Amino acid sequence: MILVTGGTGLVGSHLLVHLCLKNERIRAIYRTESSLEKVKKVFFSYADVTTLFDKIEWFQADITDVPAMIPAFFGVKQVYHCAAFISFNPRDYREMRKVNIHGTAIVVNLAIDAKVEKFCYVSSIAAVGESLTNDVITEENEWNKELDNSGYSITKFGAEMEVWRASQEGIPVIVVNPGVILGSGFWDTGSGKLFSQVYQGFPFFTEGITGFVSVKDVVNAMILLMNGTTANERFILVSENKSFKEVLFAIADAFGKNRPSKKINVWQTAIFWRFSWIVSKITGKEHLLSKYSAKSAHTISKYSSEKLVKTVDFQFEKIENAIQEIVKTFPKK
Ligand SMILES: NC(=O)c1ccc[n+]([C@@H]2O[C@H](COP(=O)([O-])OP(=O)(O)OC[C@H]3O[C@@H](n4cnc5c(N)ncnc54)[C@H](OP(=O)(O)O)[C@@H]3O)[C@@H](O)[C@H]2O)c1
Repeated sequence: MILVTGGTGLVGSHLLVHLCLKNERIRAIYRTESSLEKVKKVFFSYADVTTLFDKIEWFQADITDVPAMIPAFFGVKQVYHCAAFISFNPRDYREMRKVNIHGTAIVVNLAIDAKVEKFCYVSSIAAVGESLTNDVITEENEWNKELDNSGYSITKFGAEMEVWRASQEGIPVIVVNPGVILGSGFWDTGSGKLFSQVYQGFPFFTEGITGFVSVKDVVNAMILLMNGTTANERFILVSENKSFKEVLFAIADAFGKNRPSKKINVWQTAIFWRFSWIVSKITGKEHLLSKYSAKSAHTISKYSSEKLVKTVDFQFEKIENAIQEIVKTFPKK
């Protein structure tokens, strides 16, 4: 039996499709019935696999609720821990610590107790150390707690520490550190918003560079690593390092829409995130642009996935091809 946390998210739902295709016995954690509808849509986007959805044993629990989580581990041999709370709003920091660090500690403790055979954790490039010399970032880059790290980065790094503790307790672990993940089905959150915004004619772009990867590559790499002999290693998952401008232009081209035409400079975002912070303080509403989102829109960070390519002979899908495939599944109104 394979246990998947975060099965109703972007990574988890695509992972479930691919695990179902391999005929595995799967239990997946969910919190609300409504989130299962999103997963069904992802299964529909793979056209010929809709009946596979019924193979999943759904288990309702919050990962921070120990008593609720205990039965989820009965008979489990492998764990894919994809659940996380992703936010760049400073107001969410406490909740992120609870879900990402404390929640991971609970999943890890139960996995140790159940003596699972292998454990995969979806971390992030946000938990890999930055390069101080503008070199390409690899798995060897060390986390620097002195830097101005976002709350999200801190909690992903803290969660990784919990997972490495599992390896110390004798559980073989795989940690993957994906870049920005592009995939279909979640158009109102994360990178899905890039597609929705470009489709609606969003006119702005920035020239920061980061690593991008398709969700299919992420889940295929996870399954490959979990079914191989490699253990207690982390792997950066980045297909290509691209500027936001390049990615937004590629999305616009794939939709046949106008490319964003207004370049936003560092000082403009600096003013905007401060303005947005004041507005959110006064109105209590969600930040439109956080300091860390503003920063990452202009930061140039390049990542290498050479370790994965060498270890399992992995071939990444080109980002432009991935974008063209994703656009085909976008619900055009
Ligand atoms: N998306 C990216 O670009 C990206 C890049 C690098 C790394 N990652 C990492 O990849 C993993 C998956 O990300 P994603 O994009 O799939 O995120 P997502 O779409 O936001 O999904 C998050 C998942 O976690 C679940 N979850 C959150 N809090 C939970 C809790 N307290 N108890 C149980 N389940 C909970 C959510 O359940 P509900 O449906 O109930 O909310 C959902 O299934 C995360 O660890 C993230 O840090 C993502």
